Amino acid sequence: MFVFGRRRWWWVACSLAVLVAWRVSRNDKEVVKRDDVAAVPRRWPVACAETTSACGGACDRVLIDDWLGNAEIDGLIGIATRGMAMAPSSEGGPTIFDANSGYVMAPGARLANVYARGEPVFSRQELELYRGVIRRLKHRLEEAFPTDRPLVFTAPTFVARLSGQNASWEPMEPHDEYWHPHVDKQNTHHYDYSGLLYLSDYDKDFEGGLFEFFRAGTNDTALAIQPRRGRLLLFAASQENRHRVRRVTAGLRSV
Ligand SMILES: *[C@@H]1O[C@H](CO)[C@@H](O)[C@H](O)[C@H]1NC(C)=O
Ligand SMILES: *[C@@H]1O[C@H](CO)[C@@H](O)[C@H](O)[C@H]1NC(C)=O
Repeated sequence: MFVFGRRRWWWVACSLAVLVAWRVSRNDKEVVKRDDVAAVPRRWPVACAETTSACGGACDRVLIDDWLGNAEIDGLIGIATRGMAMAPSSEGGPTIFDANSGYVMAPGARLANVYARGEPVFSRQELELYRGVIRRLKHRLEEAFPTDRPLVFTAPTFVARLSGQNASWEPMEPHDEYWHPHVDKQNTHHYDYSGLLYLSDYDKDFEGGLFEFFRAGTNDTALAIQPRRGRLLLFAASQENRHRVRRVTAGLRSV
């Protein structure tokens, strides 16, 4: 057993205070690694921006691991891959596909509709999978952010694929430059909350592509998330959750 005199206690208390201060500054930026899996949802409290549209709910960031199983993720990737292949596209940059409306937005902001030919593209089971996942995601979001009025699930819902497979690819339009800091609500005005379901693994399926939230009013990263298949990220879509996705330098990143 150790017994400290008065002076020694004082010294211990001081070093603890220094240690705590050091930890706080070191923890300025928190990174959730791909394989850092939590059994329960993680929640980071965030103060709502003055202009927030979070409808009476909180403005927090919520992360849920293993939300969707592998078979369903493969099914969604299959749907997105087939839909995206039906639009003219170069191998590089962002492609967005909405299986509900059939719209594909390919690099260079080219828009096509996979249902335009009038032929069935997906089986009934595939469409049910897509709609079912969207429905469950909405319920999960409502659970995470109880509000005073029901949330309306708005279009578009989509799979976004960022390709780093073409090293010589260069953006042709502002829309192609997905890596800039942005606020979801400024891009899509009727969004109040955003829900992102990762369909691919950081540093395995792709390189680059780190997701980062900024500290309010700065360009300093407060929280970085490494994507992981089946990981669900929910957050209020206004100014309080300004973020960016780093440029993908290899492989395919789907969300
Ligand atoms: C790669 O990107 C370049 C520049 O945008 C484009 O001209 C080329 O067709 C792309 N390659 C493939 C295989 O899509
Ligand atoms: C953050 O970076 C952008 C450019 O990406 C710049 O226009 C803006 O002034 C910066 N904001 C702050 C608070 O440094």
